[in-house]
Amino acid sequence: MVDNYGRSITYLRLSVTELCNLRCRYCMPEDGVCKKRHEDMLTQEEMLSAIRAAASLGVTKLRITGGEPLVKPNIVELCREAAATEGIREVCLTTNGTLLPKLAAPLKEAGVRRLNISLDTLDDGKYRHITRLGELRQALDGIEAALEAGFEKIKLNAVLIGGFNDDEIPALAELTRRWPVDLRFIELMPMYDSGDFGPEAFLPCTAVTERLPELRPVEQDGGVARLYRLPGAQGRVGLISPVSAHFCAECNRLRLTADGKLKPCLHSSEEISLKGLSEEGMREKMREAILSKPKWHGQLNYYERSHAARNMNQIGG
Ligand code: GTP
Ligand code: 5AD
Ligand code: SF4
Repeated sequence: MVDNYGRSITYLRLSVTELCNLRCRYCMPEDGVCKKRHEDMLTQEEMLSAIRAAASLGVTKLRITGGEPLVKPNIVELCREAAATEGIREVCLTTNGTLLPKLAAPLKEAGVRRLNISLDTLDDGKYRHITRLGELRQALDGIEAALEAGFEKIKLNAVLIGGFNDDEIPALAELTRRWPVDLRFIELMPMYDSGDFGPEAFLPCTAVTERLPELRPVEQDGGVARLYRLPGAQGRVGLISPVSAHFCAECNRLRLTADGKLKPCLHSSEEISLKGLSEEGMREKMREAILSKPKWHGQLNYYERSHAARNMNQIGG
């Protein structure tokens, strides 16, 4: 379906849980999430109805997000059913990677096509600091497990944070020589109460091209990242700039949260509830959401924060 600004909406991002086994500072508060009542969250059946409703409106790509989607019980079965949905050509999943050693192979077998894995640093101490709970080794083992399971086009996501990992830009980019993966730097987005990063933490992606002048632009793939390659590297380096150069004009996404709220835009406060509706009812609400997609999300920076009244773990990025 096409929205009011001529954008064809073909991509649904479904957050299957707000819960996570980590607590990344830019994503969620230290004390975790206040657990919502079970009956307020979408059931697995409702999630599948929503996926079918979206597919009937022209959505072909589904990305499963969280929180951390792999902490959800039955995630493999959900992916299997989603992948079998008529009209859905591609099921992808974004994860912190730490649970992939057990789950990479079953997810592949269930029909998940691609994985995006978060990795902000290669330093044990810094990983522990930014995730508040995590061990770097587990994330690295997860990446290896994903490669071994035969996933192709794996993307690693590094949130670029001034004073934290800008000194690791070369080391992170080097991963594209070690593995056949893309490494994407993402500008830090100022969410509701996600950490108290100061203004210096908000670096534009040009910090990456300045630090790595040897990066060469390569053919683009229609995703949100501008793509480059280090000479001789197997994978590409991507720059995602939602803050310094928003990509709203090409936005093809609709988002659905674990508590059943459709979000026409990541950074707007508008939410449309699907909880308790029939598949037909969901389809109507999706039409409404698509037609209410804003032209762009407005200015974002340290002083002008996202209007989404949620943290990232409650949206899924
Ligand atoms: P593929 O293109 O399918 O590989 O995935 P993706 O880049 O859309 O998904 P991923 O979950 O890896 O997201 C990467 C980063 O891009 C996250 O920080 C998201 O929050 C951000 N992002 C994804 N879609 C949007 C969007 O529509 N607007 C903004 N501002 N950021 C987005
Ligand atoms: N700004 C930018 N990216 C973020 N992510 C989570 N919170 C933020 C934020 N405030 C990223 C995660 C994950 C992806 C889904 O979103 O690192 O890779
Ligand atoms: Fe968990 Fe991902 Fe948020 Fe980190 S960014 S706390 S891994 S949901």
